[in-house]
Amino acid sequence: MESGILDPPVRSKQDHSARQNRRASPYCSHNHRFFPPLTPQLPLSSLTMTRQRSLSGTIPSMETSHEELKENTIIIVLGASGDLAKKKTLPALFGLFRQGFLPRDVKIVGYARTKMDHAEFLKRGTSYIKNPNDDPEQAKAIDDFKSLLSYVSGDYEDGSAFDSLTSHLEEIESHYQSKECNRIFYLALPPSVFIPVAKNLKEHCYVTKGGVNRIIVEKPFGKDTESARELLGSLKKYWTEDETFRIDHYLGKEMVKNILVLRFANVAMNAAWDKNSISNVQITFKEPFGTEGRGGYFDEFGIIRDILQNHLLQVLSILAMERPVSFAAEDIRDEKVKLLRAIPPIERDDVLLGQYVSANGKPGYLDDDTVPRNSVCPTFAAATLWIHNPRWEGVPFILKAGKALNEAKVEVRIQFKDVTQGIFKDIARNELVIRIQPSEAVYLKLNAKTPGLYTRAMPTEMDLTYKRRFIDAQIPEAYEALILDALKGDHSNFVRHDELDVAWKIFTPILHWIDGLAGPRPRPVTYPYGSRGPKELDPFVGKYGYKRASEGYVWPVVSLASL
Ligand code: BG6
Repeated sequence: MESGILDPPVRSKQDHSARQNRRASPYCSHNHRFFPPLTPQLPLSSLTMTRQRSLSGTIPSMETSHEELKENTIIIVLGASGDLAKKKTLPALFGLFRQGFLPRDVKIVGYARTKMDHAEFLKRGTSYIKNPNDDPEQAKAIDDFKSLLSYVSGDYEDGSAFDSLTSHLEEIESHYQSKECNRIFYLALPPSVFIPVAKNLKEHCYVTKGGVNRIIVEKPFGKDTESARELLGSLKKYWTEDETFRIDHYLGKEMVKNILVLRFANVAMNAAWDKNSISNVQITFKEPFGTEGRGGYFDEFGIIRDILQNHLLQVLSILAMERPVSFAAEDIRDEKVKLLRAIPPIERDDVLLGQYVSANGKPGYLDDDTVPRNSVCPTFAAATLWIHNPRWEGVPFILKAGKALNEAKVEVRIQFKDVTQGIFKDIARNELVIRIQPSEAVYLKLNAKTPGLYTRAMPTEMDLTYKRRFIDAQIPEAYEALILDALKGDHSNFVRHDELDVAWKIFTPILHWIDGLAGPRPRPVTYPYGSRGPKELDPFVGKYGYKRASEGYVWPVVSLASL
């Protein structure tokens, strides 16, 4: 074992060969960065140091304990004519293809109800792949990508249609050199057909003659604890936990993955990571557009099911969990589940609900034709969660999300406690901000002496803005990172079934209240389209001890003359 890091437990013979494969993998260019070849001329002590240094920063996705698919693989995208496939899945597959991360000779097969010919599928399937400057290399890559694609149309409930899909897959596989056939099924589908499709895939398209079958599914996973259990239970009848990859695409975002490294690879950071230093934490999601055209879907779910119960809770669990024993998927997910189990269901008093109304020439939520008249569905929600464990007792974690707000932004804001008064009075609090998107950044607001012949302190910051610090960094799309993990068999960034169960338990009581299943439905307060949210928001976060930064803090540059 290398010093400095614990390997994930070895689980089977298959795992062992996966490890060996990994070393030889053509994809593992990252590995070279973290495991440089050792130079024989160096003395042993410096070799050890080089080795230790090279290991710092290893991240979980590199520590797989499953089988990485490198050849003989077909990726089947079900729902291939839908929005998710067109906007996310196929562009992500293209991104991986372009960077050389897809298995050798991979084929991508689309399946959906829509009847269309091959040319039409190629056109639709690549319609969201960008080439704004008509770059000839990108154009060639798109053409090459098209040669991997094919399409089969068929119903989701009809077993014989899945037999036709299998015949198509077998025709592709008949050209393989070896007998091994790997099939990855990506369900870009509405929940109403999850179960029949999962069943039909298992009964008609599952490879039994050697090779790997995997299924990738995406939210919504039910609407409350009970319906989620029902759905997951039905899927489990056909697909094992090991074969199932439940996507929460926030887990694939670069800055969400970064939280683990920021926390556990920095002693200084970790030392202040508890109730003794932290006053409150906010995790905020803001979108500058409303439900435009998606109102029908949205109204059935609302902002809590759409964003808080999954994306923001996932961020919270990584932010607050204890240090995992190793980077193995189950070790990380065990810690997340343990953390979530320490959170009781949200209380009604800890919730603020809002709905946008027309302003600045933009329509209100109720003006959307696809939304039922008089709907009281929240398009904005703030909910405070409490974690009952020794590290976090008494620290409020405020999750906030809203549509039709003033900007697009997702960030974590950790506000530290007031400094002891005495030599300082009314001094700004430290804040650590992790900007997940856009313009990825981490900055720590801290007080420094005002330069010059002054003795006063002023708020300033230590700033890691990615664009400035890593000038040529390409931040991968979340879906690229996750599909690659699924190809590697690494579950670290996917949601385990018990994790989902505890997540629903936290939210189910307030969801039932909002749905009118526990007395009269609460009426959301209103906020204008394009605003910061309901006017009740500032007093709401203030109630939990959040202090808005003092005036005079200007980012990114400040002139002392203006102070
Ligand atoms: C989806 C929600 O899960 O996430 C959408 O259903 C939302 O309503 C989207 O717009 C936001 O994702 P991202 O990656 O743009 O932050």
